[in-house]
Amino acid sequence: MEIGWMRNRRQRQVLISFVLLSMCGVGADLGPYSVVEETERGSFVANLGKDLGLGLTEMSRRGARIISQGRREHLQLKLQTGDLLTSEKLDREELCGSAEACVLHFQVLMESPLEIFQAELRVKDINDHSPVFSEREMILKIPENSPLGMAFPLNNALDLDVGSNNVQNYKISPNPHFQVLTHNRSDGRKYPELVLDKEVDREEEPEIALTLTALDGGSPPRSGTAQVRIEVVDVNDNAPEFGQPLYKAHIPESSTVGSLVATVSASDLDSGVNGKLVYSLFRPSEDTSKTLEVNPTTGEIRLRKPVDFETVRSYEVDIKATDGGGLSGKCTLYLQVVDVNDNAPEVTMSALTSPIPENSPEMVVAVFSVSDPDSGDNGKTVCSIQDGLPFLLKPSAKNFYTLVTKRALDREERAQYNITITVTDMGSPRLRTEHNITVLVSDVNDNAPDFTQTSYTLFIPENNSPALHIGSVSATDRDAGANAQVTYSLLQPQDPSLPLDSLVSINADNGHLFALRALDFEALQAFEFLVGATDRGSPALSSQALVRVQVLDANDNAPFLLYPLQNGSAPCTELVPRAAEPGYVVSKVVAVDSDSGQNAWLSYQLLKATEPGLFSVWAHNGEVRTARLLSERDAAKHRLLLLVKDNGEPPLSASVTLHVLLVDGFSQPYLPLPEVAAAEAQTDPLTVYLVIALASVSSLFLFSVLAFIAVRLCRRGRAGLVGGCSVPEGHFPGHLVDVSGTGTLSQSYQYEVCLKGGSGTSEFKFLKPILPNIQEQGFERNNGETPAFQKSFGF
Ligand SMILES: *[C@@H]1O[C@H](CO)[C@@H](O)[C@H](O)[C@H]1NC(C)=O
Ligand SMILES: *[C@@H]1O[C@H](CO)[C@@H](O)[C@H](O)[C@H]1NC(C)=O
Ligand SMILES: *[C@@H]1O[C@H](CO)[C@@H](O)[C@H](O)[C@H]1NC(C)=O
Ligand SMILES: *[C@@H]1O[C@H](CO)[C@@H](O)[C@H](O)[C@H]1NC(C)=O
Repeated sequence: MEIGWMRNRRQRQVLISFVLLSMCGVGADLGPYSVVEETERGSFVANLGKDLGLGLTEMSRRGARIISQGRREHLQLKLQTGDLLTSEKLDREELCGSAEACVLHFQVLMESPLEIFQAELRVKDINDHSPVFSEREMILKIPENSPLGMAFPLNNALDLDVGSNNVQNYKISPNPHFQVLTHNRSDGRKYPELVLDKEVDREEEPEIALTLTALDGGSPPRSGTAQVRIEVVDVNDNAPEFGQPLYKAHIPESSTVGSLVATVSASDLDSGVNGKLVYSLFRPSEDTSKTLEVNPTTGEIRLRKPVDFETVRSYEVDIKATDGGGLSGKCTLYLQVVDVNDNAPEVTMSALTSPIPENSPEMVVAVFSVSDPDSGDNGKTVCSIQDGLPFLLKPSAKNFYTLVTKRALDREERAQYNITITVTDMGSPRLRTEHNITVLVSDVNDNAPDFTQTSYTLFIPENNSPALHIGSVSATDRDAGANAQVTYSLLQPQDPSLPLDSLVSINADNGHLFALRALDFEALQAFEFLVGATDRGSPALSSQALVRVQVLDANDNAPFLLYPLQNGSAPCTELVPRAAEPGYVVSKVVAVDSDSGQNAWLSYQLLKATEPGLFSVWAHNGEVRTARLLSERDAAKHRLLLLVKDNGEPPLSASVTLHVLLVDGFSQPYLPLPEVAAAEAQTDPLTVYLVIALASVSSLFLFSVLAFIAVRLCRRGRAGLVGGCSVPEGHFPGHLVDVSGTGTLSQSYQYEVCLKGGSGTSEFKFLKPILPNIQEQGFERNNGETPAFQKSFGF
């Protein structure tokens, strides 16, 4: 039978195709039958015999069999019993997939007679699959601050089972933010959807991990899970915020460009570009923007240019931090500039008076002000000038000072003052400024010309040529300019009778003195006058000096013999006793010379003698002495020729003849007064003692003898006179002068002589010698009386 079936297979297939075609739209004849999937092979589905109303034998006789669609036979027919059994485990998912109704169509074929019955087998689902998520992990990005209720679809889980065994529900692990909703789709699938219940904050919780569970409707239900990782996406919901709202900073004004002033710092809770900050100055003033700069990235604020405390003491500026999302925050920087002693004090001169007149008390010389732009001690100043100046600094209001003189100034003492005004501040380090001013002192005619000497002594030789420059006087004036220009003039002479104008003249400009005519020493040995010096100030000041002109002697007078007299009726005859010892003083030649000094120093010598060797002459004093013992053989009469010579250059001389008579016995010590001398004596009313120094000095020997000759002018009619002249009574005044300076005084002689013709002449009349009763020892005693003589006669 099997073979027969197979033989007719082609034939049958054609037939079935036909049957199927004809059966389309025709309802099932049998069933529907149902079977639960996964039941064991051979499970009972239905009893076909019963359902077809056929007996068991009939079914096998008619060759009933099952025709399944598809290649696999899911069912088998037990002809013995008529039961329809499963021929294998039916897997609904395999047979029908996701189709809700799993219906297998088959036919029950009767071969003879051919009869076909349509039948259906419904395979029932069992919950034999769990929901499965296609991804184990889902990543969800949710912007923070999403509105509540916002839904985020999730992937659904698949469950091969159908119907209620499919996914029915989703659950989410407990969390504060989300719940999950299960949505029906029109096709019956359930989809999970996350719904935001509570806002998420990335800054608080940037990531949320949840477990999504899908549950099917089986009993018991099966489930499958997936991880849901929620990344909270940042939203720029945070503005940058500075660490402190106010930054305070100090910076010394000496800071260099680029110095760090402060660092501001802001933070932004957002992430990424939302948290990336850029710093900038917020609406800075122009000055601030030139002074400060902020590093956009680091927030470091640095100096762009030097700051100056004196110009701007503080800066206040807002600094903005902006994040990538455009949100910004602000802070304030308060920058204080710290003063540094960077300014030296300054002196501003307001007024300066120069020159200032001398002799004026307390004058304001200068007015100035002192300033220092620094503050505090750096701006406090101390002002001073040098010590030792006659100026005083007086502070007045508001840093003003006046410089005044302490006292009247004297231009002649100092005409210029260099004053250094030193101003020092009290800062650290101290800064100082010097201001130099020069104060000149102007002249006032307060000084008279001043002669270089209070008196001048000029020497001239006598017999000078007229207009000889005899010397100069000079005066200086300590004033300046015209006040110091000096004019010289001659003032009145000391002696009003002196014809000064005819003697000397003076150059008014330079003080040179000139002799106007030849001077005669013997006539005028000296004269004095005053010279004046006058300046050109107004009023003019003047002063005077004494000029003494001392005429220098020239050897223009020959010695003049006073004794013995050479002419006249009674020639002099000296009487010498023959018994005289050698050295007996025979006589003494007396001569005078009108010149002075060396020109009047006389020396004596014996030129000729009738008997040479009997008499000798002492060269220095004119004493004639016997040279040896006299004898009877010696002639009675002797004549000696003596020469008197002065010491001038060239020397002038005079000669005299001396008569000597040798007598027996003693001779008269005094000569009779010559009558003629008495008669010729002048009638000068004054009695003058004229002391003439007659020094006889050998040019070779250093000693001298002074002889004092007292001349008494004869006064006519004087009682007691013998022949009109007499020796004054009492002791003769006189004195000794060491003429040579080194010489030795040896002897002194006194003579009484008459001066002829008054003081203006140089002629004397010898009256008589006075025996030397003044001893050498007595000279010193006489010294005490001499000053009057010295004065009167100019010794
Ligand atoms: C989804 O289907 C279930 C049963 O299948 C029903 O109870 C529920 O109301 C449905 N929900 C929606 C939103 O259609
Ligand atoms: C003052 O200064 C001037 C110029 O520096 C100088 O020539 C003069 O000698 C000074 N005078 C005094 C008194 O120091
Ligand atoms: C001021 O004068 C002093 C003394 O002469 C001198 O040392 C100094 O340099 C001067 N100062 C100025 C600023 O001329
Ligand atoms: C003599 O002496 C007198 C006066 O004593 C005098 O006048 C006269 O000139 C003299 N004669 C001579 C020659 O010296």
